[in-house]
Amino acid sequence: MNDTIKKQLDHRSIREFKNEPLPKETVDLLIEVARRTATSSALQASSIIIITDPHLKQKISEISKQEYISRIPLFLIFIVDQYRNNQIAVEQGVITEAASGMDGFFRSFTDAVLMAQNVVTAAESMNLGTLYIGSILNDTTTLSKLLNLPPLTFPVLGLAIGIPNQSPALKPRMSMELRTFENQYVRYENYLTKIEDYDEHLQTYYDLRDTNRRVDSFSTMVFKRMQNPNLRRSEILNVVATQGFDLKVKPKE
Ligand SMILES: Cc1cc2nc3c(=O)[nH]c(=O)nc-3n(C[C@H](O)[C@H](O)[C@H](O)COP(=O)(O)O)c2cc1C
Repeated sequence: MNDTIKKQLDHRSIREFKNEPLPKETVDLLIEVARRTATSSALQASSIIIITDPHLKQKISEISKQEYISRIPLFLIFIVDQYRNNQIAVEQGVITEAASGMDGFFRSFTDAVLMAQNVVTAAESMNLGTLYIGSILNDTTTLSKLLNLPPLTFPVLGLAIGIPNQSPALKPRMSMELRTFENQYVRYENYLTKIEDYDEHLQTYYDLRDTNRRVDSFSTMVFKRMQNPNLRRSEILNVVATQGFDLKVKPKE
């Protein structure tokens, strides 16, 4: 097995970093990896905002309700960015709905996520720790203002990178038998039975975030999440619209 795959199989989210900034060459290299990532139609319609301002980190940490964000050495926010290409079209006299439509939005979204994961793989290959921060989306209105996002852009994902200052256990995953299919999707009669072993296994995981409490079984975790969805996140589509995107279902021509 090569070293990259070893690192990928050893992935674990890191939530405490050493208080050491990353050397500029490391940051530049990670950004170069993002640049080389595959991109839909080669349009490169995603961007990265590097958050260096401590005050801004603090504000985003409040949005995310995760205090460790204020201490992240390198904090990247990946964004959907149709603004740049729209301007390039406008400057050539083309007024188009392409940049604001559903297809453009999801292409950009996918590009942003792929860049982020490519950066994670590269960072982990350098023994750096990483953490995705989806909770930046708890308040996309405030976040968009803080980042001065123009129309046709939207935040997708935060990513923390730094030298790990903790050694969390490897978090168990369910069997890929449940998540991999040949040719066609397979539905099972009873999923609770199928995940019985995993439910038990997950509870052996030692979660550094809340050491006083045994982690929930997977079925309990799903139950709680489904029963208590994050309502603020249901407003995301409104903010997507405010940012100038039109993701509505269009009648067939
Ligand atoms: C899209 C996405 C968003 C995430 N957002 C957060 C977050 O806001 N805060 C956090 O502590 N972890 C976040 N995580 C990390 C997950 O909780 C973590 O990957 C999961 O529990 C599995 O643990 P592991 O990465 O250590 O294997 C996120 C992961 C992904 C993929």
